[in-house]
Amino acid sequence: MSTLLVAGIDVGSLSAEVVIMDRRQMISYLIMPTGANSKVAAERVMQAALEQTALKLDELKFIIATGYGRFNIPFAHKQVTEITCHGRGAYFLNPDARTVIDIGGQDSKVIRLSEQGHVLDFVMNEKCAAGTGRFLEVMAQALEVKLEGLADLSGSAQRSVPISSMCTVFAESEVVSLIAQGLPREEIARGLHDAIAERTAGLVYRIGLKEKVVMTGGVAKNSAVLRALEEKLKVKIDLPPEPQIVGALGAAILAGEEINRA
Ligand SMILES: Nc1ncnc2c1ncn2[C@@H]1O[C@H](COP(=O)(O)OP(=O)(O)OP(=O)(O)O)[C@@H](O)[C@H]1O
Ligand SMILES: [Mg+2]
Repeated sequence: MSTLLVAGIDVGSLSAEVVIMDRRQMISYLIMPTGANSKVAAERVMQAALEQTALKLDELKFIIATGYGRFNIPFAHKQVTEITCHGRGAYFLNPDARTVIDIGGQDSKVIRLSEQGHVLDFVMNEKCAAGTGRFLEVMAQALEVKLEGLADLSGSAQRSVPISSMCTVFAESEVVSLIAQGLPREEIARGLHDAIAERTAGLVYRIGLKEKVVMTGGVAKNSAVLRALEEKLKVKIDLPPEPQIVGALGAAILAGEEINRA
């Protein structure tokens, strides 16, 4: 069978991803930081993903862009919202998915899918980084731990210190003052993860909890957020092998469908 190459590209506030597919088979993916210029990030991540597979841009028959930077990508043929792309990617990986929780760098979203994988409804956090990846990055710095180490730190806690503010700026000074009071860093970390779970669960209840629940976006790589959310919602959450590329994967699936329709 001849090849039918398509790609999805997700340029988010913190990271940019490309997924290249041949029909419905993923053949390459890449994740890079977005940095200050989303257009440059898009070009760089696509170039690097192509190099991995020794392909050229003009061999890709259709490219769909998503994420906040999607309108600034000259080589994309179409733009689709993150809601549709995360929904589509999660459904592709798990056709039983009915609730998708995407927590990225500055947005968190909860998406309700139909049995056919179509978006029925969604809710989003208000325009502020409370309870998102950026929030966790700032808190990791305040706790003087690497972002990747935050979950382990929290895992060793005996209890959770309540964090009263979810605003990134106020929560940062709260964390600094809790450290100064001598509270264990691991208990503060546990409190931060619990606060994110609480806030995310609030979004889930607004749309209604329906299994299977799938988590996408970079914050799903933080096992403490996942565990706290499972405890709060009292359900098992399905974690894709690479949750951060699910938006780009959904975009690539949709790109393949565009070709089939033509
Ligand atoms: N290895 C890791 N361990 C823990 N957390 C991680 C890891 N990698 C990424 N993250 C988290 O993922 C976040 C970025 O998520 P993602 O790449 O989905 O954001 P984005 O799509 O750029 O943002 P948005 O969708 O809000 O525009 C980071 O802020 C960080 O908190
Ligand atoms: Mg995103």
